[in-house]
Amino acid sequence: MFEILRRDGMARIGKFTTNSGRTVETPTLLPVINPKIKTVTPREIYEDFGFGAIITNSYIIKNNPALNEEARAKGLHEMLDFPGIIMTDSGTFQSHMYGEVEMTNKEIIEFQKAIRTDIGTVLDIFTEPYWTEQQTADSIVTTLERTEEAVSLKGEMMLNGVVQGSVYPNLRKDCAEKLAKMDIDVHPIGGVVPLMEQYRYSELVDVIMSSKMGLNPNRPVHLFGAGHPMLLAFATLMGCDLFDSASYAKFAKDDRMMFIDGSFKLAEMQSLDCNCPACRGMSIEAMRKTPKNERTRILAMHNLYAIKNELNLVKRYLREGRLWELAELRARAHPAMLDGLRRLRDYQEFMEKFDPISRDGAIFYTGIETRGRPVFKRYADRILDRYVAPTKKAAIFYGGQGKPYSRDMAEMFAKARKQGYTPVVLSPWGPVPAELDEMYPLAQSLFPDIEDFDTTSESEEITLEFLEKHFEETVNGSELEDSEGEDVSELDLDIRRAKAVARYQFGLEAADALFRGTIELRKSKKTGKIRNVISDGEHVLSMRAGDGMYTLRMEGAKRIIASVPAPHMRMAVTDDSVPFVSQGRNAMCQFTTACDENLVPMDEVIVVDKNDTPVATGRMLLVANEIFNMKKGIAVKIRSGSDEE
Ligand code: GUN
Ligand code: ZN
Repeated sequence: MFEILRRDGMARIGKFTTNSGRTVETPTLLPVINPKIKTVTPREIYEDFGFGAIITNSYIIKNNPALNEEARAKGLHEMLDFPGIIMTDSGTFQSHMYGEVEMTNKEIIEFQKAIRTDIGTVLDIFTEPYWTEQQTADSIVTTLERTEEAVSLKGEMMLNGVVQGSVYPNLRKDCAEKLAKMDIDVHPIGGVVPLMEQYRYSELVDVIMSSKMGLNPNRPVHLFGAGHPMLLAFATLMGCDLFDSASYAKFAKDDRMMFIDGSFKLAEMQSLDCNCPACRGMSIEAMRKTPKNERTRILAMHNLYAIKNELNLVKRYLREGRLWELAELRARAHPAMLDGLRRLRDYQEFMEKFDPISRDGAIFYTGIETRGRPVFKRYADRILDRYVAPTKKAAIFYGGQGKPYSRDMAEMFAKARKQGYTPVVLSPWGPVPAELDEMYPLAQSLFPDIEDFDTTSESEEITLEFLEKHFEETVNGSELEDSEGEDVSELDLDIRRAKAVARYQFGLEAADALFRGTIELRKSKKTGKIRNVISDGEHVLSMRAGDGMYTLRMEGAKRIIASVPAPHMRMAVTDDSVPFVSQGRNAMCQFTTACDENLVPMDEVIVVDKNDTPVATGRMLLVANEIFNMKKGIAVKIRSGSDEE
């Protein structure tokens, strides 16, 4: 069972519970335990390092008579002395390394059951990056047959159904879609170790994203063989939940240390600047002089600390909604990683479906790759489709510095308006009409003053398209002469702003329904910002100070239901659920019957009953496809129910 607790785009914090009742919070990494050589003991890994899950190899155990007997007799947990979750692999990786393994899929599945693993793995076929498409496709047929067989045998054991497909995105997606239909518990993405070893990160991005597109969101995704701390933020950003690392021990044996910016050989390092509990107080000379066995252990522990530290950081950034920033930072550790980040832009449209409509805290521009974030595409799309110009003439202003622009450039804007122009600032986001300048992400983003070429050319391109679509005439705002004319009244300006935000957030039709009849605005005495929108005497919207976006009130929800056809902005729940939700309890995935697929996380949503009667308003935590597939968890955080007001 997998439950999504928090999310940041495709990244999620989840609670994974095995059939044996053991749980672990994801994202997490499973240190690989070699049952013959326990450099660091499983007990230490659990208690001292805090890893709640490990992975070991059932193929090695099965082939070793003593281990085989002990594992069958005691079960894996007692044999390894590990109270957390134990996953086992099947021997596939051995076949990748050393050729064919002499074992059938059925044998290895039965063995994994016999030793009471929590999660067993199919004997999948490792698809090598140099394979032809045909060879890859043929082997996937076998992997899928074996997976079917494993599903029929698994019993109480949970099952890893591995996505294969070499570097062919279509085969990956197709394999993932077929696996999504089977009764599997976890989805490793396999066959990626050579890509990581060869620093082929842009292909790794294609592999992960095409697999994710086909998989079912209610199952954790495991990136098989990914254990370098450098990669964790980036892979988590793409929606991977589980990782495993054999390298912490393998590198230690070779006197190599993992750091966030790479792995380094002890012999080549100039100094040992590490404060982890394993190295603290040690000089590089002292480390080199430590006897081999003890040194291997210290280095393995260092590597585990490096992984654990980064995992903790990834989770913190994820909780804060800032994982993109961390991934962008990490991608700068190696040009090949930067390639990965650049490739991710190809998936901007897919990722946009998962990107929250707003978040706490500003977006930091860390370089041209930031432009690949989904939020840039969303802004560019909505400014074209969800904007209505108040006048047909635009006055363009360049180089807005202070934000919001309408305060910083108040006089120039007023001069333009007097002559019937709509002020539009050319910003790194593209065009910002004055009405939108307090809204997320425009006011909540920071760019360097010295602009790069990509930003200049892209924002100009978006602006040209915008001007073409919405205006008949354009002038340079700074060249406008003073002139006589009537000021646009403060109320009219405020209404323009209020309505522009509603259109951006809810669409044109919904905004028309909300802004019907006489409009009255309540503003904050302290900041002068719009607080409440009253339409024909009904309080329909409240504007949040933080992101300049709206909270939808029950009166507003009723207007939208009455005027805009379903499923726009709706999520429907079962009859059983209605009494709870209408009293303000959160709406749960398992009681949802329909949902607008265009809603993104943190969007305002109207919960309705089967007759499309509004029951409550709230904010989306998950998206439609996730809600339909999850067996548990909160779909919508309810703000107020119809029986409460
Ligand atoms: N370990 C690393 N890669 C793989 C893979 O593709 N399949 C399995 N079963 N284990 C792996
Ligand atoms: Zn250290």
